[in-house]
Amino acid sequence: MVLPILEYPDPRLRKVAARVGTVTPDVARLVRDMAETMYAAPGIGLAATQVDVHKRVIVMDISEGRDELRVFIDPEIVRAEGEAECEEGCLSVPGYYEKVTRAASIRVRAKGADGRPFELGAEGLLAVCIQHEMDHLEGKVFVDYLSPLKRARLAGRLRKKQRLAS
Ligand code: NI
Repeated sequence: MVLPILEYPDPRLRKVAARVGTVTPDVARLVRDMAETMYAAPGIGLAATQVDVHKRVIVMDISEGRDELRVFIDPEIVRAEGEAECEEGCLSVPGYYEKVTRAASIRVRAKGADGRPFELGAEGLLAVCIQHEMDHLEGKVFVDYLSPLKRARLAGRLRKKQRLAS
């Protein structure tokens, strides 16, 4: 089932997600719905927060063929190194892209859709995407990293968009 995606500055994007613990059939269903929502959007990553479910679940697929679904349940970054700047976008801030600086290389520990724990080293786009989605679980959106000037410009753009929609 494709779920509606919350859009910035919806206050529900600020909620901090709770740990999942055991991967129950309900969590497995959430993972399936989130994957369907991400592919339909289309996007390369989605955090449960964005579909108004405040559990620590992330789905991602950065492959060209859109056939390599990755699932991170209760993810934790166990190591982060270096710095890299990358242009980011977000399904919750449609049509807006801006550069953000994050760790260049990370090691993440999480559980998969089958509930099994795993660890993964990531760099490049995968590392960026994991950090971006993990921020959502903390109630953070990538535009929080922008300078006050850029944020003010974005707010102006959103107001204009709302005026056109109403
Ligand atoms: Ni996002």
